[in-house]
Amino acid sequence: MVAKGESGKRSKRRTGRSDSLTVRDNRTLREYVLPLERGALRATELRQIKVSETDPGLLSYDPAFQNTASCQSAVTYLDGAAGILRYRGYPIEELAEKKSYLEVAYLLIHGTLPRPSELAEWTHQITYHTMVHENVKKFMDGFHHDAHPMGMMVSTLAALSTFYPEAKKVHDATLRERQIHRLVAKIPTIAAFAYRHSIGMAYIYPSNDLGYATNFLAMMYRPSWTTHYDPDPVLAKALDTLFVLHADHEQNCSTNAMRVAGSSHADPYVASAAASAALYGPLHGGANEQVVRMLQEVGSKENIPKLIRQVKSGKRRLMGFGHRVYKSYDPRARIIKRVADSVFSVTGRNRLIDIALGLEEVALSDDYFIRRHLYPNVDFYSGIIYQAMGFPTDMFPVLFAIPRMSGWLAQWQEMLLDEEQKIARPRQLYVGASLRHVPG
Ligand code: ACO
Repeated sequence: MVAKGESGKRSKRRTGRSDSLTVRDNRTLREYVLPLERGALRATELRQIKVSETDPGLLSYDPAFQNTASCQSAVTYLDGAAGILRYRGYPIEELAEKKSYLEVAYLLIHGTLPRPSELAEWTHQITYHTMVHENVKKFMDGFHHDAHPMGMMVSTLAALSTFYPEAKKVHDATLRERQIHRLVAKIPTIAAFAYRHSIGMAYIYPSNDLGYATNFLAMMYRPSWTTHYDPDPVLAKALDTLFVLHADHEQNCSTNAMRVAGSSHADPYVASAAASAALYGPLHGGANEQVVRMLQEVGSKENIPKLIRQVKSGKRRLMGFGHRVYKSYDPRARIIKRVADSVFSVTGRNRLIDIALGLEEVALSDDYFIRRHLYPNVDFYSGIIYQAMGFPTDMFPVLFAIPRMSGWLAQWQEMLLDEEQKIARPRQLYVGASLRHVPG
């Protein structure tokens, strides 16, 4: 029996293309012609596939979104098989070499590289929104001295929502732009305050005469008894490049959290707190911290085979290796290796880099890793650089969150302006008890 009629014809008219999929339901022997768009099947098309009139229709089941596109996006292009990453069409290699983080943040959010006048205005807006309300300091003072800076950052981002109640008006373009300025500007300040709090030192206020990365380094490291601090320009440039590399990475765990929280029209402060919380985990932005702990534990190249044995026997994971999408070398890891050389020219060589390089060499020639397409990801080398620059291990995920804010905001705004998007609400396959009654 062929029942392609209704949906098949309607869909063909709608798309005007012959791209389609013919599906035969072996339960009913019916055949359906389902339209394909951009090489994808719209999951709601499956609803017409039913075994009876009362059947709600076929669902797709995809735990952890392994093969589901949740949106259309024009922000970041990633080809995991070829190791390609582009922001708004520009290769990450060219952006890392030729553009500053603030230019890249503008690009992600506005879709085009800024003209000189636009860059001047954008830089001004970001620079003049770096200060936080004095009450934010008091609020941060309430954290215990050994609180993890990422926990402090997640909470403080959420708390900003209470300082800017107009941020709720997420459909007002002017107000949205203002919150974007605030979030991109304030996240380094919050990050640095979290660090200063953890070491019991006075907070250093932002300086309007410093660049984005330089200002952050000054807020982190400037002694409180002086008003002057000159971070090494090589280190500031290296940090800025790391910010470029971390700015966006299409629909990853934290970006998805930003979109999901934002889809209920929650304000961007609480939505980015949700995104930061997702980033915190050791399988995502917390991996760079775990990499350094793992390399420290290995201690010397002689112990690499022991670690590899533990990984291959399933006792642990090789942190900084593997990626849901990249099945070849992460292009960011390649650029980061070069950044490492420039940083070490100032700080001296971090001995962990030799263990990391040795580990990479062994892993890339081992059948276990080859068969599973496990290559170093961005986090394998970033932590080593951060450590050489003097950042404590706890701060590594925070250093990831600072630049990722621009990506989260670009994706959040795109989601709000996308007429197809609605509140995110996945379905489930219920596997619990069938109807039963409470006794008595
Ligand atoms: N070490 C050892 N084995 C691994 C690793 C690893 N790092 N990553 C994946 N594998 C193995 C799995 O054991 C599995 O093997 P199996 O088929 O024999 O069961 C196979 O490779 C596939 O692994 P999955 O867990 O299904 O892959 P998934 O796409 O779900 O996970 C992830 C991706 C989370 C990044 C994973 O590779 C991982 O845990 N890596 C270590 C943590 C890390 O570096 N995270 C940072 C990611 S990049 C970022 O967020 C910026």
